[in-house]
Amino acid sequence: MNSDVKLEDIVSLAKRRGFIWQGSEVYGGLRGTWDYGPLGVQLKRNIMNLWWQMFVDARDDMYGVDAAILMNQKVWQASGHVDTFTDPLVECSSCKGRFRADKLDDPNKCPTCGETDIFSEPKQFNMMFKTNVGPVADENSVSYLRPETAQGIFTNYKNVIDTFYPDLPFGLAQVGKAFRNEISPRDFVFRSREFEQMEIEFFVHPDRWQESFDHWVTECKRFFDALGLDPSMVHELEVPKDDRAHYSKRTIDFEFDYPIGREELMGLAYRTDFDLKNIHDNSGKNMEYRVKGSDETFIPHVIEPSFGVERALMAVLCSSYREDEQNGEKRVYLALSEHLAPVRYAVSPLLKNKPELVEKAREVYASLSKKYPGRVMWDDNGNIGKRYRRQDEIGTPECVVIDFDTLEDGTVTVRDRDTTKQNRKIIEEI
Ligand code: GAP
Repeated sequence: MNSDVKLEDIVSLAKRRGFIWQGSEVYGGLRGTWDYGPLGVQLKRNIMNLWWQMFVDARDDMYGVDAAILMNQKVWQASGHVDTFTDPLVECSSCKGRFRADKLDDPNKCPTCGETDIFSEPKQFNMMFKTNVGPVADENSVSYLRPETAQGIFTNYKNVIDTFYPDLPFGLAQVGKAFRNEISPRDFVFRSREFEQMEIEFFVHPDRWQESFDHWVTECKRFFDALGLDPSMVHELEVPKDDRAHYSKRTIDFEFDYPIGREELMGLAYRTDFDLKNIHDNSGKNMEYRVKGSDETFIPHVIEPSFGVERALMAVLCSSYREDEQNGEKRVYLALSEHLAPVRYAVSPLLKNKPELVEKAREVYASLSKKYPGRVMWDDNGNIGKRYRRQDEIGTPECVVIDFDTLEDGTVTVRDRDTTKQNRKIIEEI
């Protein structure tokens, strides 16, 4: 595994090869926003699909939902986000720059103009993006871009209970966009203003939260393994009471050794009955769960594994980034696992000016594309060495080359990214 990778190497590769670009770059950019190019979208989807397969498709105690991003403002009042979803903000009296007080390298020195002892007293800055729904902009039409997908799950808890009658424990899962007006977005996609979450709210009997919490610790680690993260680079942090979110009675942050330092990859929180109880009290709707065949009723407690897609993607890129030397030249490659690599196979004719090779290569390309839709790349640009370098950089596990022997005996060259070894295989064997 690569623990020496630098952030600028990742950013540069991501840009150069069409994974991730600065949002609105053509107009000078918009801070904290990122656009995904063809390979970035595929990598991100592969991560999200893996998550969905492991935690929704492969389980019979999990239900998927996809709630609207815009929600009634009462959701965010009841959840505590209107009052407490804040970060401390300080302003430099010299250059007027605004910064997140708890993220300053030196709490007395402005990182922009370098002046010292110029910060204002910290003010609490609410990170939700506020907007108005409909043509009248007044207090009644206020809404927010959701800062977490979780509330779209809690507000649908009763719908699922009333339509699917699940036994406890059961979970609701959602993948989707979240928005936070971060004071200091930074470190590539790590701290963005628009990002994606993969969240589960797992509803449990209040007396049994501990065993579910332990279960989800194990499941989170299983997901990190499936992402191919080096376990020695993932760390568990028991978050002290004062640092926990307002709703949490216990939180473990899983941290990763990013090039920017050890930082939060995802969080696992015991949210108690905080959210359902707030909905119960504020909506007038009964959120109690009745145990089948008994009179026992209670508001379920919740274990929440909350994953950020961008942070998972950044951990995957950092873990898989490699440099070595091939024939005296530096080579960069991404050692992505087969199920995450945006391109599973690249297919090339050895020479692009030989119609018989191109025709055969097109056949192979078409049949592989049926097996791996959207994940096979046609690549006939430049000489074969350049094609291999390009495919190495985007993490393609194998390149398939059609040459004159293919026409004779139906075999192709399959070149392995990590070892750079080439083997001949019968086309049907791939
Ligand atoms: N529902 C719980 C919740 O939202 P959180 O710890 O605030 O908890 C969960 O966020 C995850 O979302 C984080 O662990 C991180 O992976 C991701 N995340 C949070 N803020 C982010 C940001 N500004 N940019 C990218 N990812 C972010």
